[in-house]
Amino acid sequence: MSLWDSSLATGNPGIDQVHEATLGRMEEVLEAIADEDATRTERLLGELAAEVSRHFDEEEAEAGGRYLTKEHREGHRLFVAELERLRDAFSRRGLGPALPLWMKSRIVNWFRFHIATHDIPLARALGRAAQAAGAGTPPGATPGTAPAAS
Ligand SMILES: [Fe+2]
Repeated sequence: MSLWDSSLATGNPGIDQVHEATLGRMEEVLEAIADEDATRTERLLGELAAEVSRHFDEEEAEAGGRYLTKEHREGHRLFVAELERLRDAFSRRGLGPALPLWMKSRIVNWFRFHIATHDIPLARALGRAAQAAGAGTPPGATPGTAPAAS
């Protein structure tokens, strides 16, 4: 079962590659939990947390203040905090029936929801901006229109 599907494609190959890899890492975490392998689960959760934080930092840097909404940035922070809460609970209580439910409902589903509601619109906005810049369109002008005579 793949957690990635084409409905999550943003149209930005770099972002899509990272999202697919992140969902792949989440699949590995779920497999390690199903195998009741606490050592592997701990290692994979650490890798997931590091990769996601790096990805959010890169995404925020690429988007800059103009295209990244406050809600988008706040979503990143909430996700990092939720993943830390899960890791903390795992380190205190170990594997248990709540862990796969937590992973699926609050980590995987959140990430997929975030892609659909924030990352796809962001990638489209960045794509339009890059297209406008490539066409030499002045900032704020509609691509394909002639500049006003001065
Ligand atoms: Fe994002």
